[in-house]
Amino acid sequence: MKLQRTLPPSAAPIEWRDLIQGLVGLARPQVTMDRLQAEFRSYFGVKHVWFVSSGKAALSLILQALHSLSGRSQVVIPGYTCFSVPSAVVRAGLSVRLCDVDPLTFDPDFPHLETVADSDVLCVLATHLLGIGVDVPRVAEFCHARGIFVVEDVAQAFGGDRNGKVLGSLGDVSFLSFGRGKNITCGSGGAILTNDDRIGEALAQEYAQLPDESLLGMLTNWLEVAATQFLINPSRYWFPAGLPFLKLGETKFYTDFPITRMDPVRAGLLRRWKKRLTSSRISRVTHAEQLLRSLVSTVRLVKASGRGESVYLRLPVLMRSKQEKDALCRRSADEGLGVSSLYPSSVEQIAMLSETLSSQHVPQSTMIAERLVTLPTHELVSDDDLLRLCAAVESVQRGQGLNRKSSPEQLDKQGHMQELPRVR
Ligand SMILES: Cc1ncc(COP(=O)(O)O)c(C=O)c1O
Repeated sequence: MKLQRTLPPSAAPIEWRDLIQGLVGLARPQVTMDRLQAEFRSYFGVKHVWFVSSGKAALSLILQALHSLSGRSQVVIPGYTCFSVPSAVVRAGLSVRLCDVDPLTFDPDFPHLETVADSDVLCVLATHLLGIGVDVPRVAEFCHARGIFVVEDVAQAFGGDRNGKVLGSLGDVSFLSFGRGKNITCGSGGAILTNDDRIGEALAQEYAQLPDESLLGMLTNWLEVAATQFLINPSRYWFPAGLPFLKLGETKFYTDFPITRMDPVRAGLLRRWKKRLTSSRISRVTHAEQLLRSLVSTVRLVKASGRGESVYLRLPVLMRSKQEKDALCRRSADEGLGVSSLYPSSVEQIAMLSETLSSQHVPQSTMIAERLVTLPTHELVSDDDLLRLCAAVESVQRGQGLNRKSSPEQLDKQGHMQELPRVR
């Protein structure tokens, strides 16, 4: 544990006013829930909105609703994604099918999608990883011709858009997450959105069976949000970051998560969501652009014009090798830079799924897991932090801080990629 300025890899600050609004929500539950629902309907331009306990609860519910409509049971998910996603598929009683990920755009690998999306497939998840917009219309065109639903995973992309349409309004049905590491947070929470009446009816039936959150659960979450807000400040984050048993930022596969309706305290915590989303987006996009401009001489950038605005929950950088990635993460831990490796493996390599997924290979996703680092872009990042981040990336790219075993020559032979995924 080092007492120094330490950046969290991701942070969604909350103000004292938001905490008060959480308590107001408890006093005026119906008004709070109704207002939030109306605001989301209008922002996304959708007819149906539900709020639930988390993003994975939202996905699980969506999958059960879609399954009740079509009977198919295979769910295509990206080979590299949050472990909550396969958790939700298994929780819904359905089977995971993997599609590889294009490492330069984070779109599905479309040739691979053609081979996996057969007549057993219920839906394909279009995931805007790290806030980078996926080509949902292309996924939809492919899927709809085969009777497959498109579920838009907007857990990491709330506030982004693509060709003038907000992310979350493009799939047959979409979900958001308000978890701790997301663009805005209420501790834990999720939303489901759809414009499709048939899907809406099936979802209404699933939602009607959900229990409410307990009073204890509401207040515990409120206290956790308050404590998190105190500790995520970079002047204090060294403390939780130095406690390994907290397992901060760890993604895990587990299926016994709660599935409840969102409570009015969480809804109250989201009362100022529009303002918070705007300032979160401005910081993330501005910081990402500053980092990209500074890093352009050391890393080759992939340009994809006209594809909408990414919100960059964090900025992804593909290092040339696992050794380079490990060196940067070591340096970050030493200097409190908030560089993180996101998910530890591809979904194929999750131990609890290894039997069922052993024949589903996703080599590009495995490569992304080995080499991807993310740089923090959130509101608590300062100009000085940006300079220190760029210096760290550049020095690791020059071969400083690598293990003696891995010379730059070895790195060149091992890796040919040093691009950043898509820049707009
Ligand atoms: C891409 C993606 N999908 C789904 C989820 C699940 O959201 P939650 O943590 O709210 O359950 C997450 C959460 O990290 C995520 O990153």
